[in-house]
Amino acid sequence: MPARNTETATSINMKKISNNPEETLQLGKSLGCSLIAGDIILLYGDLGAGKTRFTQGICYGLGLTKDSYIRSPTFTLINEYTGRVPIYHIDLYRIENQEEIYSLGLEEIMFNQGVTIIEWAEKLQDSKNPDQRIMNIQERMEVYINSIDDSQREFTFHSFFAEPRPFPDFTLL
Ligand SMILES: Nc1ncnc2c1ncn2[C@@H]1O[C@H](COP(=O)(O)OP(=O)(O)OP(=O)(O)O)[C@@H](O)[C@H]1O
Ligand SMILES: [Mg+2]
Repeated sequence: MPARNTETATSINMKKISNNPEETLQLGKSLGCSLIAGDIILLYGDLGAGKTRFTQGICYGLGLTKDSYIRSPTFTLINEYTGRVPIYHIDLYRIENQEEIYSLGLEEIMFNQGVTIIEWAEKLQDSKNPDQRIMNIQERMEVYINSIDDSQREFTFHSFFAEPRPFPDFTLL
């Protein structure tokens, strides 16, 4: 029986507005600069919200160069890149049931010494118990992206880390 998620870490919240794809890239980059091995980023938001664009930014912040090929792993489900730590970029859009998630071996990936970024983290919700996730992910940052119009996105960050961390300085870049 897989472990259930219980909330122990406290949540710290922040909101940011992005006015265009470049700003989304910059937000991701600021976050990426602040990440360390073992971190898990859960991305929530509709089709075209900007999850992949934001992930590209995270990857640049983790040391990938701008010519790196970063796109939704919609068919491969998991892409791996090498930045200053290994980066696992996962897209759960096509996942149809929880067994498929278990078969991906996500736990092994997430608790490895890399940074894991998961698009469509909604799919980790337990269908029978919607306020629970099916993986035991305690320390994480949840990022909710809400499309306001064609070019504006509202980002809400919830950081759950046992050791409180400063939020990335989103103004620095
Ligand atoms: N402020 C913005 N931030 C990010 N993307 C934006 C913004 N404004 C417009 N866009 C456009 O929205 C689209 C976002 O695409 P992206 O692939 O990043 O979304 P996604 O959330 O990963 O979608 P999917 O669910 O299909 O994986 C791009 O076409 C981008 O140009
Ligand atoms: Mg995507």
